[in-house]
Amino acid sequence: MENKKEIRIGLVGCGFMGRTHSNGYNRASNFFPDLQYRPVLKAVCSRNPEKVAAFASQWGYESTETDWKALVAREDIDAVDICTPNNMHAEIAIAAAEAGKMVLCEKPLARTMDESVAMVEAVEKAGVKNTIWYNYRRLPAVTLAKQVIDSGKLGRIFHYRANFLQDWTISADLPQGGESLWRLDANAAGSGVTGDLLAHCIDTAMWLNGAIKDVSAVTETFIKERMHQLSGQMQKVAIDDACIFHCHFGNGSLGLFESTRYARGHKALYTFEINGEHASIRWDLHDLNRLEYFDHADESNVRGWRSIHVTDGDQPYMDKWWVPGLGIGYEHSFIHQVADFLKSLETGEPCAPTFRDALQTQKVCEAVLESAASGSWKDTGVSGNI
Ligand SMILES: NC(=O)c1ccc[n+]([C@@H]2O[C@H](COP(=O)([O-])OP(=O)(O)OC[C@H]3O[C@@H](n4cnc5c(N)ncnc54)[C@H](O)[C@@H]3O)[C@@H](O)[C@H]2O)c1
Repeated sequence: MENKKEIRIGLVGCGFMGRTHSNGYNRASNFFPDLQYRPVLKAVCSRNPEKVAAFASQWGYESTETDWKALVAREDIDAVDICTPNNMHAEIAIAAAEAGKMVLCEKPLARTMDESVAMVEAVEKAGVKNTIWYNYRRLPAVTLAKQVIDSGKLGRIFHYRANFLQDWTISADLPQGGESLWRLDANAAGSGVTGDLLAHCIDTAMWLNGAIKDVSAVTETFIKERMHQLSGQMQKVAIDDACIFHCHFGNGSLGLFESTRYARGHKALYTFEINGEHASIRWDLHDLNRLEYFDHADESNVRGWRSIHVTDGDQPYMDKWWVPGLGIGYEHSFIHQVADFLKSLETGEPCAPTFRDALQTQKVCEAVLESAASGSWKDTGVSGNI
């Protein structure tokens, strides 16, 4: 412990992601004992003094702030971690970079391309380490999917299919905006399911299958007006409740993506399937330790979908956990991201996805929304490996 270098964390926002990240910082050193860096929970910031004090005590932060600017200005903070709604990402990230802090920021990068570009410029100009929490990359079965694809086992890829389905906004009585409902307010969120859910699918897709070149999308807003939680007034709903798009990848394969918060019965069904010339793989967040794999080279009498339980020591990250056969959970993706971030400080390598990597996902989200608005195909401007 004494020999480890400290990395002093200042966390902004203590909701859902504040908890997952705090858990990640608390557990990374236990399970990745070889890391040279150790996170220290120096300060947490949220606007409500009682809530932030309770959060600090629950998760072990040394101190609290109620103004993020005060947190960013502190000399005893090395890294600012942004877990606020999307409308705060750009302002906090740019200020943190200008103060010379490392910046870890929740997805999506920001609400708009302008904000996103300014954030990339700020971290690159300041030369500070940066990363975006597209955490699904770091579930072992998803990382294994990347290894299988990169090994060439699938051969030429023909299809990439992904869904992210929820059902929590079906009631017309649900207000928009304010604490915990900011996702329904376009001013706070930027967009609806496109930035919130499809951004995850797009990040994973481009990591696994390369650049998305162009898109054709439709979006729908099923409930047109909702009461705003802060003003008490009925207001137009300006987010996309559902979005479906198809696309061309740079490698010639076709993509099909769907996301909605109106799929009754689905709480967080994130699935993807990739069909190649020789083999296919598929994954389902509800069964996150499994990767399904079909290999056409198997003898025909035993050929079929294999269900690989990704819990063995030679599978990604799993040598750090229990014994073969025992699964891990959603929260481990954040522990892995903390560990990879700390490792990147040792190696000097970027911690992917960086702000610049996440800008590519942002470009695709922007093209999706533009395509839906115009009814025409849109180029994304993304190329190369992500
Ligand atoms: N990686 C993932 O899988 C994942 C999952 C959920 C959310 N997210 C992202 O994480 C971010 C936060 O989402 P959440 O679900 O944790 O939201 P949340 O509503 O649960 O928490 C947001 C927190 O930010 C605080 N906050 C808001 N404005 C603030 C300000 N000006 N100063 C300080 N604190 C402020 C709120 O009080 C609250 O504590 C969003 O960008 C969201 O898109 C990512």
